[in-house]
Amino acid sequence: MKTIAIFGSTGSIGRQSLEVIEKSEDFRVIFLTAHKNQELLNEQSEKFNSEQYLGDLNARIISEVVKKADIIINAIPGFNGIYVSLEALKNGKILLSGNKESLAVAGKFLIEIAKDNGGEIRPLDSEASAIWQLLNDYKEDVSSITLTCSGGPFFGKKKQDLEFVTINEALKHPTWKMGPKVSLDSATLVNKVLEVFEIKNLFNLDISKINIVIHRQSVVHSMVHTKTGATKMQISRNDMRLPIFYALNWPEKKEYPWPPLRIRKSELNFAPADKDTFLPLKWLALHGANPNFPVILNAANDVAVAKFLAGEIKFLEIYDIIETALSKWILEVPIHDLTGLIEFHNKISNECCNNSSGRKIHTSKAR
Ligand SMILES: NC(=O)c1ccc[n+]([C@@H]2O[C@H](COP(=O)([O-])OP(=O)(O)OC[C@H]3O[C@@H](n4cnc5c(N)ncnc54)[C@H](OP(=O)(O)O)[C@@H]3O)[C@@H](O)[C@H]2O)c1
Repeated sequence: MKTIAIFGSTGSIGRQSLEVIEKSEDFRVIFLTAHKNQELLNEQSEKFNSEQYLGDLNARIISEVVKKADIIINAIPGFNGIYVSLEALKNGKILLSGNKESLAVAGKFLIEIAKDNGGEIRPLDSEASAIWQLLNDYKEDVSSITLTCSGGPFFGKKKQDLEFVTINEALKHPTWKMGPKVSLDSATLVNKVLEVFEIKNLFNLDISKINIVIHRQSVVHSMVHTKTGATKMQISRNDMRLPIFYALNWPEKKEYPWPPLRIRKSELNFAPADKDTFLPLKWLALHGANPNFPVILNAANDVAVAKFLAGEIKFLEIYDIIETALSKWILEVPIHDLTGLIEFHNKISNECCNNSSGRKIHTSKAR
């Protein structure tokens, strides 16, 4: 029986991980952490008979928790989730990473640390998981990848339509129920660009081989195009329990305890993405080959998201903050070590935080 610690157990990924674990006799939850939701954390730790920690994470608590478990589930949003992943991999643990920000920005370093210490990274993100599943099943050489994208709540809108959108509108994802950070990233499409780098790093692919296509139904979670000319798709319900189940049980292929997606009558629709409205796609085309791009995009975005969710800036000002950061830092000398990368992230983050951008606006807050 393997022991599990979940960082961020009260969030969307954390709660669904517990639902998956509950269906199996192979795992025992020994530690759960949350930030503020004491009530749910108490309920969970009582149910699973686990230890718990509530509050801001620090190096001591991360290290103590990681040492206790065989499997670490990282369900913390934002770049700060990297400290959980780092500690897990340095200690040779199996890391199930929902945290895509660290994989997108520092995946190359995390993979090296995993290799050096006998650790392992298994992705939870549905698109990264889809590609992982496809690569595990089909051994043909991959010629390229198509990443599907729901388009978020503002698909079909033009830039001028987004001027006054509220927090609630931005968090209303059409097909997934997720935490506020990733929901907002799906509305701006920063999320999709982070996924491009997450997948580049995890599967050692050139970004020129990763295409993005809009797929509103969110049942095709990605596609792999093989050198033999076939396109393989991973199709399943839009339910994060599937990638969590797959990652937890890997390399065993256990029987999924929930019903599969059975398509009786449906059409699968795909459409090109609108780069003029959703600027992260334009920046990807412009700067994607620059090694500084993912760290700048992600650091500025983490700050911009916090400001938007606090009602301090308007939706389009998220793009302004990121564009200002890109123009300031994109030509910096590329960084070749993890310490330098974290310092670079912190520098961008501090400057973006200190810049008083946007006027105070009052919008209804979600959650
Ligand atoms: N949700 C999805 O379907 C989905 C899909 C793909 C990838 N992901 C990725 O998975 C990660 C988690 O997403 P989520 O949607 O599960 O987020 P979420 O619902 O917002 O949950 C975040 C969890 O982390 C805790 N937390 C937040 N800030 C913290 C802090 N500063 N210190 C300590 N704990 C903190 C929260 O505790 P409280 O509840 O106490 O605040 C909660 O348990 C993100 O990187 C996201 O991109 C999520």
